[in-house]
Amino acid sequence: MFPDLTADDIFRIETKRLWLRWPRASDAPAIASFVSLAQVARMTASIPHPYPPGEAERFLMKARTGNASGTALVLAITQKGGARQTIGLLSATLASGRDIEFGYVLAPQVCGKGFASEAVEALADTVFSLTRANRILANSRVDNIASRRVLEKTGFAFVDTGLDFLPARGGLHPCDRFQLDRKTWAANRRTGGKSRPMPPMAQQAHDASEAKVLVPAAPQVDD
Ligand SMILES: CC(C)(COP(=O)(O)OP(=O)(O)OC[C@H]1O[C@@H](n2cnc3c(N)ncnc32)[C@H](O)[C@@H]1OP(=O)(O)O)[C@@H](O)C(=O)NCCC(=O)NCCS
Repeated sequence: MFPDLTADDIFRIETKRLWLRWPRASDAPAIASFVSLAQVARMTASIPHPYPPGEAERFLMKARTGNASGTALVLAITQKGGARQTIGLLSATLASGRDIEFGYVLAPQVCGKGFASEAVEALADTVFSLTRANRILANSRVDNIASRRVLEKTGFAFVDTGLDFLPARGGLHPCDRFQLDRKTWAANRRTGGKSRPMPPMAQQAHDASEAKVLVPAAPQVDD
């Protein structure tokens, strides 16, 4: 699903305030410091709590393997300038058919500054620009107001509420389901109040032949 461009660990996305880049082994302590918090883990489907020793290293190995094989795009969120420590994680993984699913977490000390929305918006632009995905899906627990707002602000539409299996939470939990389809994304880009250019690194990599392969032309967009 993901192209060669994202399967190389030099791939990165630049936003106004962030770099989204492949996670590295040296990120393990920073990642463990926030994903091990109960208030972060409980909102997610797959982060165990208590967080076992060595789990961050296992996660990093799996993330990099998935990125390299083109089946996923898992990125570390870092702030431009300063210490550039990892402050969050963002993932795009294959769901069924040509759908992609997003997941994200942010360190509590940097929440409320719009970083998650900035990162999700840039990843959505990348996914629709570089893959043939029809839809991006995202779920949030019904009491996760911050996550819901992130999805609303980045153009996702509420679909329904239902019981979803959250493996690390040990069963079914009520979740709100959201989606962003290609047509809506394209319309938002054309008519939205702001222009959303492709993230810089994606532009750099596009020569004419590559663009033909990676970016579906307008008539190919599914209804
Ligand atoms: C969800 C999460 C990623 C949000 O990160 P963030 O950087 O704070 O998100 P943003 O700042 O981009 O947007 C958060 C929005 O939620 C709003 N919000 C947060 N808590 C809120 C609350 N209790 N009531 C109402 N609005 C709330 C913020 O005001 C902001 O909206 P605004 O810009 O319209 O004011 C972060 O809280 C997190 O990592 N939580 C734990 C893991 C998680 O929930 N992951 C998602 C699983 S689906």
